[in-house]
Amino acid sequence: MTMPLEGRVAIVTGASRGIGREIALHLAEKGAKVVVNYSSNQGTAEKVASTINNLASSGDGVRAIVCKADVAEPSQVAQLFDMAEHTFGRLHIVVNNAGILDSKNPTIAQTSDEDWDRIFQVNCKGAFLCSREAVAKSNPFERLGKVEDVAPVVAFLASDQGEWVNGQVIGVNGGRV
Ligand SMILES: NC(=O)c1ccc[n+]([C@@H]2O[C@H](COP(=O)([O-])OP(=O)(O)OC[C@H]3O[C@@H](n4cnc5c(N)ncnc54)[C@H](OP(=O)(O)O)[C@@H]3O)[C@@H](O)[C@H]2O)c1
Repeated sequence: MTMPLEGRVAIVTGASRGIGREIALHLAEKGAKVVVNYSSNQGTAEKVASTINNLASSGDGVRAIVCKADVAEPSQVAQLFDMAEHTFGRLHIVVNNAGILDSKNPTIAQTSDEDWDRIFQVNCKGAFLCSREAVAKSNPFERLGKVEDVAPVVAFLASDQGEWVNGQVIGVNGGRV
């Protein structure tokens, strides 16, 4: 049976643990090849990749690799995308998941300039750098939207998989990047 993401290639940033790990595993279970990005936890990133490579559907081929890259650093982001393309070919999916939270949940008064700068570097600039790199490597749709483009999103939101997406406005418009 063909899987829905068969033949697709994904980069998931911050995939060594937490939400990113689950995204990487889920995309792989649906057939995608995955680049597991991390910034410091090489061991946990490698475990995610080996879990994917040991999936029954993997056969003999490599389905996941790890790539250390700080998403806040333009040259490292470029290397991440180059590695994905070099290993798996054309890229289809980029998940901007990498992010840092201060577990102490500080108030504004307790937040230092350094902490503020670093959070914005990773959470905002990181997403921008990866999105820009993805756009540079992607092909525009070059078509207008059709009525059929909307129905699958409605079905997803109504399904169990969409259970945690409520009260949101989702643009179904091909994206403006
Ligand atoms: N958990 C929540 O309740 C929650 C709620 C709302 C939004 N979010 C957002 O969802 C995302 C994931 O959250 P999480 O709780 O799963 O986080 P997490 O468990 O702390 O994991 C963070 C991931 O991001 C990676 N990372 C951190 N800095 C990076 C950098 N500069 N470059 C590349 N990778 C980097 C980490 O890699 P290493 O392991 O190598 O450090 C790790 O894989 C974050 O963007 C977070 O802001 C989370």
